[in-house]
Amino acid sequence: MEKKKVQLNNKLVWPSEPYKPDTGMMPEFVGRESEMELIMAAWIAGKRTLPLSPVLVGEPGVGKNRIVYELARFTGRDIYLFQGHEDITAEDLACTVRFSDDKANMMEYVLSPLVCAMLNGGIFFLDEIGKIRPRALALLVSVLDERRYIDSTLLGERVYAQPGFRFIAATNTGEVSLLPEFIRSRVRPVIKIGYPPRVEIEEIISRQFKPRMDNLATLIEKFWALWDERIKDKIPPTPRDAIAVFSLASSISDFESRGGSEKLKSAIKADAFTLEAGDKPQAVSSKHLEKALRKLYD
Ligand SMILES: Nc1ncnc2c1ncn2[C@@H]1O[C@H](COP(=O)(O)OP(=O)(O)OP(=O)(O)O)[C@@H](O)[C@H]1O
Ligand SMILES: [Mg+2]
Repeated sequence: MEKKKVQLNNKLVWPSEPYKPDTGMMPEFVGRESEMELIMAAWIAGKRTLPLSPVLVGEPGVGKNRIVYELARFTGRDIYLFQGHEDITAEDLACTVRFSDDKANMMEYVLSPLVCAMLNGGIFFLDEIGKIRPRALALLVSVLDERRYIDSTLLGERVYAQPGFRFIAATNTGEVSLLPEFIRSRVRPVIKIGYPPRVEIEEIISRQFKPRMDNLATLIEKFWALWDERIKDKIPPTPRDAIAVFSLASSISDFESRGGSEKLKSAIKADAFTLEAGDKPQAVSSKHLEKALRKLYD
């Protein structure tokens, strides 16, 4: 689809695009009912009540992004993502300028994902909010209270949020305490996203890998034995950990079954090794699983 400039009062500006999650590439979603329920309750708002702006707190890979993608699907809204880091400025949150491809213009404005979510009544997801410096976060203050607007110096405009606009942020566990009080008191509730219980990890793995591995029950048992033995401090696996181990085990088996190691020695262009995974079930063994876990976590 061709991207088009949009009119914002007297200016033609480029919008940021919403993210359309490709759920076909993701494992089927499992669990997280109570967390989703709390976010939905926080977001219900009307003429006399403002929506709350929750912040998800949890270790890397537990599923914070995934929860937000599922909520966007569930509520049928567009989702606009913004990745926080130390160099974000206040203006980055509203609008940026860039050199124009169009010879008639020197520069052009690009609206941030936040401003686009506000204008289109979408969901704005501010990831890694804990990494953004307080000076930049100050611009969010008016967005997150009853004013529901953002002032952009570059645009010279005040942009008001449409009623459908909803805000959610995420941060890793240690960083939530770094948020300045003026933001901390506006992003609520703080929702802890913990490690999923074993049954849910098993469910995620089963739904994702069952069509490819017929001995999955044995492999899952082996996975727990290896995980408990290898991972010190008994930290449970995140969905990302478990998916990575089973994916790598499957790929190692695929590579071997296609004569990968032999081919590596004699690689010639005419017989190039394809990197596309096959659809057929893989003969993944405990050895493959062990190798994958060792390569990923040793
Ligand atoms: N409940 C779930 N059901 C199915 N898959 C899940 C679930 N939670 C997470 N995943 C999968 O696990 C992977 C990691 O999840 P995600 O990227 O959402 O984690 P995160 O908490 O945002 O991590 P980070 O802090 O590094 O950004 C993704 O592939 C995601 O699809
Ligand atoms: Mg994330």
